[in-house]
Amino acid sequence: MRILVTGGTGFVGKRLCEKLIDGGHQVDVVSRSPSQAARGLPRECNAGKSAMAFIDTPPDAIVNLAGEPIAGKRWSDAQKKRLISSRVEATTALVEFCKALQKADKPLPAVMVSGSAMGYYGDQGQKKVDEETPPHPEFAHRLCAQWEAAAEPIKALGVRLAILRIGLVLDEGGGTLAKMLPPFKLGLGGRFGDGRQFMPWVHREDLVEAILYLINKSGLEGPFNAGAPHPVTNREFSQTLARHLNRPAIFPVPAFVLKAGLGEMSRLLLTGADMRPERLHAAGFNFGYPTLDKALADILDD
Ligand SMILES: NC(=O)c1ccc[n+]([C@@H]2O[C@H](COP(=O)([O-])OP(=O)(O)OC[C@H]3O[C@@H](n4cnc5c(N)ncnc54)[C@H](OP(=O)(O)O)[C@@H]3O)[C@@H](O)[C@H]2O)c1
Repeated sequence: MRILVTGGTGFVGKRLCEKLIDGGHQVDVVSRSPSQAARGLPRECNAGKSAMAFIDTPPDAIVNLAGEPIAGKRWSDAQKKRLISSRVEATTALVEFCKALQKADKPLPAVMVSGSAMGYYGDQGQKKVDEETPPHPEFAHRLCAQWEAAAEPIKALGVRLAILRIGLVLDEGGGTLAKMLPPFKLGLGGRFGDGRQFMPWVHREDLVEAILYLINKSGLEGPFNAGAPHPVTNREFSQTLARHLNRPAIFPVPAFVLKAGLGEMSRLLLTGADMRPERLHAAGFNFGYPTLDKALADILDD
């Protein structure tokens, strides 16, 4: 198969591209810096500045992961606009690309797997959350809702659309763990606020497998929660991480400190959703790393 990937240079996309190349697929990556992208990806990957660079080699599937990092900078009004517009513009460009393929009488991809996040649901307190749960209105929800809505028009072209509401992606070399490990390794880790907020998480290998599953199973469309079947509270996450590092987790960070330091972005750490992957389960997808213990053992233990 030929797969077009946006965000292929990122934490998730890079692993996806490696796995696709290992599986004998052809991979075209859309990147703002194609030459840099080519340096960091398997040499078999092609890199281009926009999807239109690949109009003569139509993909069988698209995976859309590009977007300004959500926790990279404080959420000023300008940064909030960037978070939304980077995702909406990247997604809209893919819809336009498919329209151009159609106009040129070229084959359309069968499917687009498009990113979204657990933030779609907003703060859900302690209740269990599946794909039907009504969202709590807040910035994270608006961001994800606009990202998802930008992908919707692709359905009218006959392209199957599967959306992944992704939990915190865990693996070595990036993502949430790269930020959490330094204080925890020094024995300075602890819960955030009262630690009761849920942290849906997913091992990067399982997320990549879920993307491949959605590409290959022709009946699967709509939103899919991409978090492991056993989400944990922040308190449990901190304790489990500390245990795997043989360190204590006795330095809680009070909510007011996070609010003062991060502003509205502190909601990423202080609120959450007990998000369950109901639709992936119903579709027969099995998680290789269903518990945090198993995932952290794979990632951290020698
Ligand atoms: N990692 C997580 O825990 C997590 C959790 C929930 C949801 N997600 C979502 O899943 C997607 C993939 O996650 P990830 O961790 O792999 O992300 P990432 O490492 O931050 O990579 C995303 C890619 O998007 C591109 N990008 C960055 N800023 C951009 C901008 N302003 N405009 C357009 N493109 C931009 C970059 O590619 P180029 O530099 O090559 O253009 C980058 O490699 C993201 O959209 C993220 O929001 C991730």
